[in-house]
Amino acid sequence: MGTVAILGAGVMGETLLSGLVRSGRSAGDLVVTARRAERADELVERYGVRAMSNVEAAETADTLVLVVKPQDMAGLVEEISDHVAPGNLVVSLAAGITTAYLESRLPAGVAVVRVMPNTPALVDEGMAAISPGRSADLPHVEEAGELLRSCGRVVQVAEKHQDAVTAISGSGPAYIFYVVEAMIEAGVVLGLPRPTSTELVVQTLFGAATMMRETGQHPTVLREQVTSPGGTTAAALRQLDDHKVRAAFMSAIEAAAQRSHDLASGNG
Ligand SMILES: NC(=O)c1ccc[n+]([C@@H]2O[C@H](COP(=O)([O-])OP(=O)(O)OC[C@H]3O[C@@H](n4cnc5c(N)ncnc54)[C@H](OP(=O)(O)O)[C@@H]3O)[C@@H](O)[C@H]2O)c1
Repeated sequence: MGTVAILGAGVMGETLLSGLVRSGRSAGDLVVTARRAERADELVERYGVRAMSNVEAAETADTLVLVVKPQDMAGLVEEISDHVAPGNLVVSLAAGITTAYLESRLPAGVAVVRVMPNTPALVDEGMAAISPGRSADLPHVEEAGELLRSCGRVVQVAEKHQDAVTAISGSGPAYIFYVVEAMIEAGVVLGLPRPTSTELVVQTLFGAATMMRETGQHPTVLREQVTSPGGTTAAALRQLDDHKVRAAFMSAIEAAAQRSHDLASGNG
């Protein structure tokens, strides 16, 4: 494993950087770039990594991780393009930027891997989906996967599925926070102190998620286990069905995927 440069180390870039440092990558093998000098200084001080210009980073590193906002991608790629060597790996975390877009702007033979991460990467519980471009071979895909595994789990998907991934795991934490907010408010309506309601809901979510992961059982089976005939849970689920909550989730996630598609095709 060679030198890894994180170009545009903002929120997501720092999340990945801290994951890499915690997972044992030597700070000497990590490079960051930033638009503002004070941001670069902050990262150098916090992680002991080196800060460079984008061009220097492109010339130095074997793997370049592009973490600027999608609208800043064209400028960044134009700046580094002449300095990236064929055989190097370029990993892009920018939503909606395709591997074909990057390949057409980088020298032939540069391997490109597209990633959709999510924010639980901040606590090492991220879910990242990676899609290799045309020139990326197995070692490149493994290197990209290894980078992302430093802050969570990784799956490989065909690039045509990245809009669906964006709608499910990219935006997904927001849907969960929304449900949690609603449950906390319901507890408050029933007279629970807000901190108590919050603790009950957050630990219930954590416990339910852990149960699904550890038992490997289908959520339907787990739900049926807490749904006694004629009981409290059945009464609640009947209300959720009456309010078409399942259908609302389907429509919401379809809308997110459509929005992702539109933004990626410049129709945003
Ligand atoms: N955050 C998420 O939940 C999430 C989830 C999935 C995907 N992503 C993707 O991750 C990418 C980054 O998102 P973010 O939330 O981390 O944004 P961010 O905090 O704004 O980070 C981007 C950083 O890049 C810097 N930058 C911009 N142009 C640059 C250039 N030419 N050279 C060097 N640095 C440059 C920015 O500098 P300034 O501070 O000066 O603007 C900023 O610090 C996006 O493309 C997004 O689609 C994010």
